[in-house]
Amino acid sequence: MKVLCSAQKARSFRGPVLVVGAFQGTASHEGVLKELDAASKGWVARVLSSGDFRGKLGDALVQQTHGALPSGRLMLLGLGEREKFTLDRWRGAVAKAAQASRGLRARQFGVSLELPSPVAFSMAELGAAATEGAMLGLYRFGLYKSKKAEEEPDPEEMVLLLGGPRAKSGVDRAVVQAGIVAEAVCWVRDLVSQPSNRLTPALLAQEAGNMARTWGIRHRILDEGDIKALGMGGLLAVASGSKEPPRLILMEHSAKDRAAPKVALVGKGITFDSGGISLKPADKMDLMKYDMAGGAAVLGTMQAASRLGLPVNLVGVVPATENLPSGSAYKPGDVLKTLSGQTVEVTTTDAEGRLILGDALTYALRYRPHLILDLATLTGACVVALGDQVAGIMGNHRGVMEELSRAGELSGEEVWPLPLKEEYEEYLKSDIADVKNAGGRDAGAIQGGLFLKRFVKEVPWVHIDIAGPVWTDKDRPYRPKGATGYGVRLLIEFLKRFKGVKD
Ligand code: BES
Ligand code: MN
Ligand code: ZN
Repeated sequence: MKVLCSAQKARSFRGPVLVVGAFQGTASHEGVLKELDAASKGWVARVLSSGDFRGKLGDALVQQTHGALPSGRLMLLGLGEREKFTLDRWRGAVAKAAQASRGLRARQFGVSLELPSPVAFSMAELGAAATEGAMLGLYRFGLYKSKKAEEEPDPEEMVLLLGGPRAKSGVDRAVVQAGIVAEAVCWVRDLVSQPSNRLTPALLAQEAGNMARTWGIRHRILDEGDIKALGMGGLLAVASGSKEPPRLILMEHSAKDRAAPKVALVGKGITFDSGGISLKPADKMDLMKYDMAGGAAVLGTMQAASRLGLPVNLVGVVPATENLPSGSAYKPGDVLKTLSGQTVEVTTTDAEGRLILGDALTYALRYRPHLILDLATLTGACVVALGDQVAGIMGNHRGVMEELSRAGELSGEEVWPLPLKEEYEEYLKSDIADVKNAGGRDAGAIQGGLFLKRFVKEVPWVHIDIAGPVWTDKDRPYRPKGATGYGVRLLIEFLKRFKGVKD
């Protein structure tokens, strides 16, 4: 779907569907509705007074105009209570409008960026959020459905109606940028949705390489031989149970200004997590194809950052492997030697993410980053603590964590801090090695964070446990059920605002 901006007034829009937002209790004499009412000689007031539309968040009332307005239909879009209006609600509402327009098989729909009453957001912000909402709301993973013809086609075009030429160039730019980000999110959703029989570590690396070539991103793929030569004992151990060889995916984006800060992004790329010899229960094990969502989010962020030309140097590091049981698999009790030189006693082969990330974090240090962020579907405990809407953040730098929280609020991809209490390092004490990979159920998410912390030395670092929000079982406003693509919008928002680490 294309997104266009037009300086035109909503009342002169000629397409098949005109979408206009309205709050609960909005009356026909307010703002854009007043203009529409005048243009339609009182028809809009009659529609509003019919009582069929209450303005509740998620409502969408569609009426044929029968010539009362130049558009074929008017869609009144519920925005909920005026005081509770946020950009995230607007994203969700526009997603609803896009889905409803698709339901009508409309080729095009127009969305008024003028609302009935003033809001705290600029036209550019509303335009960007509308673009994200529509593009993300229309997303479907259709690769394996045979009967494509039965599905409604997507609208070809969304027209954002500004109601005047004043803000147009700013909105145009914001909309193009939002489109780039939304495309990256959808690309990530496709990867995460892919089953593990298709998306093996080698194929993930290949897709990453194709993407990097398309956008001119510097990249390198290390194969099993390279990984052995390096001595990544964590990654090799996890990979040892599978016939599919591991990969290490590396990517670089350079800012025009060489002096710009450098951020390393590290993402967990387990293409399937069975638990290994410490086998997971069968229930919902199928979902463990999404255990590479952190890696995919890193790759999607590299894509968007490069296309946006963000003024920050970026390195992406994604270790990719399966975690399977077999005669060659690593076992509970094994002691591994990681790239960092630290030895790890394996108490459970199901705490595999931290083993491959430990090596990847050590590798990331070679780039001398000013900041490291890692994204991983690391623990079920984090899902228990924060659910599927919020990621857990843990790190060694308060300022960066605060900036991440801000980026979470702005993007709608929320995060919440968990404490990396030093006393809890006790859980990971091993009798025979430098550290254990897991020490029981208590503080499960924090144990994961504390394990990773050992590999970043003194470099500012934040671990983002995204096990909850990468997948949704229920349709959410602009996140249809399945893979959400979580992480890309959070990181892009963070990186856009990032000026370097302050101590
Ligand atoms: N990939 C899982 C974490 C996970 C679980 C993500 C559920 C999403 C939903 C991870 O590799 C894992 O198995 N973690 C273990 C750690 C434990 C053995 C210390 C867990 O959470 O049970
Ligand atoms: Mn696991
Ligand atoms: Zn895992």
